[in-house]
Amino acid sequence: AFDRLVDAHGRAIRYLRISVTDRCDLRCRYCMAEQMTFLPKSALLSLEEIAIIAERFVARGVTKIRLSGGEPLVRRDVGELVRRLGDLVGHGLDELTMTTNGTRLADHAPALLAAGMRRINVSLDSLDADRFRHITRHGDVAQVIGGIRAARDAGLRIKINMVALKGLNEDEIGPMLQWCADEGLDLSLIETMPLGAIDEDRVDRFLPLTRVFDDLSARFPLERDSHRTGGPARYWRVAGTDTRLGLISPLTANFCDGCNRVRLTTEGKLYMCLGHDDQVDLKAALRDGGIGALDAAIDRGLREKPLRHDFRIEAGSAPAVTRHMSVTGG
Ligand code: GTP
Ligand code: 5AD
Ligand code: SF4
Repeated sequence: AFDRLVDAHGRAIRYLRISVTDRCDLRCRYCMAEQMTFLPKSALLSLEEIAIIAERFVARGVTKIRLSGGEPLVRRDVGELVRRLGDLVGHGLDELTMTTNGTRLADHAPALLAAGMRRINVSLDSLDADRFRHITRHGDVAQVIGGIRAARDAGLRIKINMVALKGLNEDEIGPMLQWCADEGLDLSLIETMPLGAIDEDRVDRFLPLTRVFDDLSARFPLERDSHRTGGPARYWRVAGTDTRLGLISPLTANFCDGCNRVRLTTEGKLYMCLGHDDQVDLKAALRDGGIGALDAAIDRGLREKPLRHDFRIEAGSAPAVTRHMSVTGG
């Protein structure tokens, strides 16, 4: 067997996030600029190449794969990719999952379930139609809610991802948790992270979850829950319901010590950390040298995996990295 995936800081890599497209049908303000230049299709990994790389990671110890984007469900052959990766579930892979904006979920949910997905995360930053359109610039909240309910009714467990935005959705956090409890969904709150040039002032929008959590605890019976997914969230349960509240606090409670993940982009680059530019070109390695070169490139990347991100949100501070969130899918 090949060497397991362990970085220079002794952290075992078990979680591969795969961005299957940099494109998206929305333009969330904290994620993208209004005008984005997307990659030409010729630059992308083929479905076959993604599958080969994913299979290699699973052979080397990865147990969890998440498909992300951009928006993963806008890639034309995503259904075929999900079926192919679904064959790994139970054969080394414990979990195949996805993070989606939900616009096309109603059409895709049955196929995701059939391929072996059991739960997915759906981005939803507001339940109010006008606000949702403002934050996403193009989105129709009724369409996304319809997708969420269709996926839930098909049998997928759903976690809502809500980026906490001061002055934009701050007053909706409590109502969102109540809505999730009523609908049988989980909720993760996320601190906004500084990646790429966007058209918004991040300092004006940053909301520390420390304060949000104090407000929520005063209004909901929250109990600490030891549940872990392999992702960065810490969980609480709303007593008397099945709903879990997750907090993802990269700025106020760093979680990099326990990092277990790397990110494959749609161009075939492996990014070693969300907050750094360190990367290796797996597409070139695979095309030029096959599986041996792929393994060597992965090992080279692991040796350079940074210890932690240096995200800061301060007046006048530049984004930590110039690439947008949509390149690596979070
Ligand atoms: P679960 O498997 O449900 O725990 O999901 P997840 O949190 O791993 O994935 P998801 O795509 O839903 O991401 C939720 C948020 O966590 C996004 O804002 C991601 O950017 C962020 N996130 C995930 N992994 C990391 C990480 O390694 N570092 C940082 N800084 N943020 C991360
Ligand atoms: N900061 C934090 N989370 C972000 N996401 C997108 N951009 C950012 C950002 N700048 C979230 C999306 C999605 C997940 C993959 O990442 O809302 O749910
Ligand atoms: Fe698209 Fe997701 Fe970015 Fe929103 S957060 S613009 S849905 S990639």
